Amino acid sequence: MSTPVPVSARAITRKKVTTLTFRQKKERGEPITMLTAYDYPTALAVDNAGVDSILVGDSLAMVVLGYENTLSVTMEDMLHHSRAVSRGAKSALLIGDMPFMSYQVSVEEATRNAGRFLQQGGMDAVKLEGGRERADAVRSITNAGIPVMGHLGLTPQSINQLGGFRAQGKTAVAAKRLVEDALILEEAGAFSIVLESVPVRLAELISKKLSIPTIGIGAGVGCDGQVLVTHDLLGLFDRFTPKFVKKYANFHDSMHKAFTDYIDDVETRRFPAQEHTVDMEDKEWATLLNNLD
Ligand code: KIV
Repeated sequence: MSTPVPVSARAITRKKVTTLTFRQKKERGEPITMLTAYDYPTALAVDNAGVDSILVGDSLAMVVLGYENTLSVTMEDMLHHSRAVSRGAKSALLIGDMPFMSYQVSVEEATRNAGRFLQQGGMDAVKLEGGRERADAVRSITNAGIPVMGHLGLTPQSINQLGGFRAQGKTAVAAKRLVEDALILEEAGAFSIVLESVPVRLAELISKKLSIPTIGIGAGVGCDGQVLVTHDLLGLFDRFTPKFVKKYANFHDSMHKAFTDYIDDVETRRFPAQEHTVDMEDKEWATLLNNLD
């Protein structure tokens, strides 16, 4: 029987994941794994678990900062959290999610803001939402040497246009447009594309048509990889859980129990116990008492 490799040793020996690794995994038919993280301890844990890629998603707005949707989060918010993640994760490919209005106004602004994710945020690549209307931005950012991940289907920054968080590409016309958009993004230089909330067979068709890998969320097993919002997977987001999420833990309940146990311990003086305190030598204590007025 082989001896299990300790988690820390596994993390140290892991090679840095690059966009080339993504491409090679697709060629070998090996699923790519991706999770979100927004802070140092989560990034450390996700990286040590061996995930291929960490997305500092603009889902930050909802699951960490408590906003109703992703529209309020800013470049400064994203860079602040990107830096924390880059301090925790050493092997996973780090992708910074470009926030609403950081790439829509002009190609120049998009390129400059994408550069900030690498220069000031410690990221390896960026992600942005949209299809043909973003092709010029994708081309320009890629030409600047910055890998770009696309994002098609349910694009949360457009919820006002889409009429809410709803599945996309369900009619033949909408599905054809998504296939075309995916091919346009690939041609513009994207190294990978997230497909969110689209029918399973459409995601599979797009994945087969592209030579770059697709990463699915609510898009079925036919994608080349999968991504989940870590707070959903851990059961840490209280408001709602999308249908496509598999919960691997219930941290919300575990946190509630830990906090109520703590309050109970303090109120009944079970905490702090002897082992949580420091003491001083009897001699020093006696000297102190003798020297007090
Ligand atoms: O912001 C995010 O977390 C995302 C994922 C859902 C892909 O864009």
